[in-house]
Amino acid sequence: MIWIDGPAELGGEISVQGAKNSTLPLLAAAVLCKGQSVLHNCPDLTDVETAVRILEHLGCRCTREGSDLIVDNAMVCCEVPQGLMQEMRSSIVFLGAIVSRCGEARMCFPGGCELGPRPIDLHISALQKLGVEIRESGGCLSCQAPHGIQGAYVSLAFPSVGATENLMLAAVCAKGTTIIANAAREPEISDLAAYLNRCGGRIYGAGESCVIIDGVKELFGAEHRVMPDRIVSATYMAAAAVTGGSITLRDVDNAHILPMLAPFEESGCEVRQMGGSLNIMAPRRLMPVKHIRTMPYPGFPTDAQPVVMSMAAVGRGTSIFVENIFENRYRHAEGLQRLGANIKVEGKVAIVEGVESLTGAPVQAADLRGGAALVVAGLAAHGRTQVGGVEYIRRGYEDLAGNLASLGARIIETKDDP
Ligand code: EPZ
Repeated sequence: MIWIDGPAELGGEISVQGAKNSTLPLLAAAVLCKGQSVLHNCPDLTDVETAVRILEHLGCRCTREGSDLIVDNAMVCCEVPQGLMQEMRSSIVFLGAIVSRCGEARMCFPGGCELGPRPIDLHISALQKLGVEIRESGGCLSCQAPHGIQGAYVSLAFPSVGATENLMLAAVCAKGTTIIANAAREPEISDLAAYLNRCGGRIYGAGESCVIIDGVKELFGAEHRVMPDRIVSATYMAAAAVTGGSITLRDVDNAHILPMLAPFEESGCEVRQMGGSLNIMAPRRLMPVKHIRTMPYPGFPTDAQPVVMSMAAVGRGTSIFVENIFENRYRHAEGLQRLGANIKVEGKVAIVEGVESLTGAPVQAADLRGGAALVVAGLAAHGRTQVGGVEYIRRGYEDLAGNLASLGARIIETKDDP
């Protein structure tokens, strides 16, 4: 449980953790590399722990030394047990790496995530184009690549982040060249390509819509520094925004922040970016964020929508959100309404009428970023807010409560949740 006594104006500076959504595919990529890989700036998250348990089940040895995660690859197994698959949606990204390394893979469908149905049709059809034979039965996948993986031209119907990552992991050691059209352009894709190329891969154009991969015979482990977490950065920015505070974030990648700047500036915040740091100064009362449409990168990211909705909840006017990526990503609206927010949700549209102030209350997180949004709103609410479902938040945030407390928030996390 997270307990917050608000409101409290935030000030000071913190360092931003490594990116969860880069660390997870990087750990899957380590399956492909002979010998030892070292991930620097690896965040300490429950989703990372789950990925480590998958690696260890496959036969790899993982050792954490501070923020370094060392992976010694001694792969002996090509199956991911259902329990581990169910714990994390992104476990599906191990599929391409395992079938490339072992010539076969068995795993069940990943956990049906709380954001709506999480299909994997794009992953499956893409891998089939590379010659992977996939049979589904009883919610489990059995994959074979009897003739090895063949490079191919694959055009993704949607620039899926996970499907792009699975394709890159399957193609990097394929026979021949793979061209991915309509690839996801998220920075995490570029981070994955940078690591794989350091291991001996030949991936060109990552971060653009067309990615070309010349298959190589084998990869050898290498060191890599995980990129900063852009969504965690946006979360702390939103925390400063709703409390009228002024904070500095260190170790950010300012290029990745650019697609998220508009709502902060529209609402009256002043953002200064310099090198690897960012300073945000918020007005006493926010203006509305006007119109937010979530889109694939370099559009406004869906993962930042919940925390920006917390800003809109206390803004001076009407804000309109259109969630184009996930079918069910407004579950945090219910918790915000309990705190006094005025939000109407109609399908993929949410209309937020900013209120003068929120009032603390007990609320429940239903997913990772929605939980963070409830904490952000609690910082602005008058009185005590208690946020349940902290296990969701721990999946993606390294000590969210501790970091906010160091910025002056009156917040603690108790370990009574599972
Ligand atoms: C990644 O999920 C991130 N997770 C998500 O972050 C992020 O919201 C999402 O990309 C979009 O940026 C990780 O990287 C671990 P997608 P992913 O495949 O790969 C549909 C967080 O909070 N789709 O780009 O699952 C899908 O249903 C998480 O950190 C298919 O229809 O996202 C969704 O509507 C949440 N078929 C849309 O595409 C498929 O085969 C985007 O999904 C695959 C996806």
